[in-house]
Amino acid sequence: MKNFITDFKTISDSRGALVALEGNKNIPFDIKRVYYLHSLNSEPRGFHAHKELRQMALCLNGSCDMILDDGVEKMTIKIDSRSQGVLIEPMVWHEMHNFSPDCIFLVLASDYYDESDYIRDYEQFKNLINNNR
Ligand code: TYD
Repeated sequence: MKNFITDFKTISDSRGALVALEGNKNIPFDIKRVYYLHSLNSEPRGFHAHKELRQMALCLNGSCDMILDDGVEKMTIKIDSRSQGVLIEPMVWHEMHNFSPDCIFLVLASDYYDESDYIRDYEQFKNLINNNR
């Protein structure tokens, strides 16, 4: 998995900090949907891959650990910077663990919510990866 972490430019001055996210510029797709997770507890989330959807995830506050697994490579990344985005490409199994109580997890998505784009079964995910090789 290459280039999946982006460090967004932070514009800071005496008043504070500003980070701008723009579709087809520093976000590599048209942004059709934005959603965010908050009031999180210790339960992990995610546990799926998407067939087509592209997403960029950021922790606007707090931190969490993300597991990314493309069927070949599996990695754990700690996201604890407000200016760092994790690109979740299609056919990447992802899980979010260890949310800090103050975590606000923002996701920019390339399309509207569509349950038929989800692969929620890990064995099915692995089979699809192996069949497409
Ligand atoms: P779910 O996919 O289980 O969340 P996570 O990946 O964070 O574990 O989604 C939880 C519920 O919210 C599920 O019923 C689907 C719904 N949902 C929407 O209606 N719109 C959305 O944009 C998303 C991401 C989920």
